[in-house]
Order: sequence, then structure tokens, then C-alpha cells
Amino acid sequence: MKRVPGKQSNYSLITAELSALYEIPSLSFSDSEERFAAEVVEKATRLFGVRYFTLHAGPPGNRRLLASWGFQDVARIEERINIPSPERFNLPLGEKGQTGLVFMEQAQPILSRERRIFTVFARRVEIVLQTLSENARRKRVEQELSRYREHLEELVKERTSELKMSNELLRREIRERKQAEMEREAMARDAAASKERELMERTNRLASIGLLAAGIAHEVNNPLQGMLSHMHAVRRALPEDFPKNDSIEMVEEGIQSISEIVNKLLTLTRQSGHSGPATAISSVALDFVTQLLEHEFKRAGIKIIRKEESTRFKLNINQQELIQVLINLYINAKDAMPKGGRLTVTTFAEEDHCVICLADTGQGIPKKLLGQILSPFFTTKGARGTGLGLSVAESILRHCGGSIHVESAENKGSTFRLKIPLVREEK
Ligand SMILES: Nc1ncnc2c1ncn2[C@@H]1O[C@H](COP(=O)(O)OP(=O)(O)OP(=O)(O)O)[C@@H](O)[C@H]1O
Ligand SMILES: [Mg+2]
Repeated sequence: MKRVPGKQSNYSLITAELSALYEIPSLSFSDSEERFAAEVVEKATRLFGVRYFTLHAGPPGNRRLLASWGFQDVARIEERINIPSPERFNLPLGEKGQTGLVFMEQAQPILSRERRIFTVFARRVEIVLQTLSENARRKRVEQELSRYREHLEELVKERTSELKMSNELLRREIRERKQAEMEREAMARDAAASKERELMERTNRLASIGLLAAGIAHEVNNPLQGMLSHMHAVRRALPEDFPKNDSIEMVEEGIQSISEIVNKLLTLTRQSGHSGPATAISSVALDFVTQLLEHEFKRAGIKIIRKEESTRFKLNINQQELIQVLINLYINAKDAMPKGGRLTVTTFAEEDHCVICLADTGQGIPKKLLGQILSPFFTTKGARGTGLGLSVAESILRHCGGSIHVESAENKGSTFRLKIPLVREEK
């Protein structure tokens, strides 16, 4: 705003003011602070004819010099700005000068109307500077955001591939486990099938042996009985001092023994048909067997101890058959205690069964033989035993709805636990 002295000056001042007001809004939003500062300097010097001009950016204490005009010695700028004078115009930009500072100096004192125009100019500069710094900040944020987004995408990619890998591992493990499970199941199925086959074969073998034995026993039994009665008749007919009486007696005992084996075989195959009452009284059967063998047990140094919860358990089993079972168990116990010992017989009720426990203090049964002792013909007594006693007992008990169970400890003793159904009393 160059001033011309005289009358014209007012006119040219107004013209200069108008052109300044016209040009100020055209201070453009350049793409950089530097370019904008150059434009500001060009406009300030052209429009206002200033001698010195500076444009600073930033808050007090941290200002950067964006542009200057007229200074030879840049070091003296601060000094000039800070000394107030009527030729100088100093306008802080933004609130408390946070955005920057515009400084202008003329050759003559600045008029108040010039100050107003300078202020309008400075405000426009302020707006553009703020917008530029806001734009720069936004750009920085955007760049940061895009870097962050890229980093995130990278992370997502990494995690996705990790997930894929662990998924694959998991799938492989599941597949392997399933495979192992299937193999295990197949093996278990095979084992079960072969066990079943074995059992079937064994059952079939036993059934055919049983049938064979039953057939033979049946056929043998009748002639045996005939032989026995003929032997009795022969002995009766001979004088008492007949020299071969011993031999005849031995033949009789032999036939008797064969007959017993045959009877056991017939019981095993349920072809004997015992007579006598269909039910048994526990104490009657036990009394009978105890009395029968008492003498023999005493001689062997074995004490029989009886513990009965009741003496009159009525059992759903043929009395003769129960006696047969008990005799075998008593004799087995005696055989297991060659140096004497104790046989404890306990009787008690358990739900709808009567339990008879026979516990001896004998040599016991080795673990590996325990599974075999109920099999027909299994014996450890050599020629002295047939190995039919326990299998007959098991067969009798099974047929009346009972069972036999063995527990044994080597050198300590064995316990045979018989479970026999109780007769249900009608009310
Ligand atoms: N109380 C027991 N203590 C130890 N071993 C026993 C006992 N009872 C049975 N055993 C074993 O079980 C086997 C089979 O018994 P089981 O009564 O079936 O036949 P056995 O006694 O050998 O012959 P049998 O009864 O025909 O005379 C016996 O040989 C014996 O080895
Ligand atoms: Mg026996």
C-alpha cells in the first residue's frame, strides 16, 4: 500500500486498499508451507510496499522462520521484531500466537487503517497456515494408519497361515487317532472273535466228550451192576475160608470204584436222576457229611468248625446232590491239609440265596491252575483223583440256579463259596 503525498494520496490509498482487499482472499492453499510463504512475501511487498517483512510459523519459543524480505542479516530479525516502533506491525497468528507471527515494517509510521488491512492480510495467512498444518497432520495420520493397516494385514496373514498349519496338524492327529482307534477296535474284535471261537470249540469239544462219556457210562453202568451182583452171589456161594477170597474182594472194590466214576460221569451229563427230596435242609446235609467224615478228619489232624446263622435253611437243591457236592469239597480240603489244619464251614443267607463257605488252611491252589480246577478230568492227585469232583459240583449247582466260586492263596488255604437258591416260603 504505497502512500503518495498530497491530495491524491487519499485516492491512491483507497485504490491500494481495495486492490489489497481484492487480492487477499486469493492467497491460495498451496501444497507446501514454503510455496505459500513465497507467495505471501511477494504479495506483502507488492501490495503494501513494506521495507521489511517476515513470516514465522509455530508457537512462541519454538518459531521457525518461513520467509523474510528486506533483511541482509537474518540474525537481527528477532531484535527488530521485539523493539516496538510506529513503523512496525507485529501480529501474532492463532490464539496467543500459537500458529506463528507476521511482521511488517514501513518507511513511515503505519496508519490505523493500514493496520486494519494488515490485520485482515495476517488473518488470511493464519487461516491458510492452519489449514496447511492440519492437512500435513492429517496426511501423517493417514500414512500412519495405512502403515498400521499394512502391518495388521501382515499380522492377519501370518496368523492365518499359522492357524492353517495348526489346523492341518490337528486334522492329521485326529486322522491318526481315528486310524489307531479303528485298528484297536479291529484288534479287539479279532481277539473277541477268536476267544469266542475258542470257547465255542472248547464247548463243542466238551459237549462231544460229555455225550461220548454219557453214552459209554450208560452202556457200562448196566453190565457193571450185573457184574457186581454176580460177584456178590459168587462170594456168598463160596466158603469163608476160600483161599482166593481176597482177590474176589479186590475185584469187587475195583468194580465198585468203576461204578462210582461212571455215576459221576452220568451226574456231569445229567443222566443219573438222583432220587430223594428235591429240596435240602442245609444243616441236615452238613450234619450228614460231617458225621460221615468226622473219623477220617480226626485221624488226619483236621478240626471241623461249623458256624451257622440258621440250622434250617431250606435249599432249592436235591439233598443227595448237595451231599455229593459237600463230600467232594470236604475230601478236597482234607487232601489239601496232609499235615492237619482247620476246615471252617460257615452258612448264612444273602438275599434269596444261602451261602455255604468252606475255608481250609491247606496248601492252596497256584494262581495259574485256579482257572482249570472246575474243568472235567483236571486233577493234581494222579491216579488217586478223577478230576471230576469239582466239575460235577459245578454242574449240579448250575442246574439248581446256584454257583461255586473259589478263592485261594498258596500255602495259606482255599475258600469255596457255594451259592444255593433258598426255597421261597409261600405265605
Ligand atoms: N481245597 C483245595 N485245596 C487245594 N487244591 C484243591 C482243593 N480243592 C480242589 N483242589 C484242586 O482241584 C483239583 C480238582 O479237584 P476235583 O475235586 O475236581 O478233582 P480231584 O479231587 O482231583 O479228584 P476227585 O474229586 O475225582 O477225587 C484237585 O486235584 C486239586 O488240585
Ligand atoms: Mg475231589
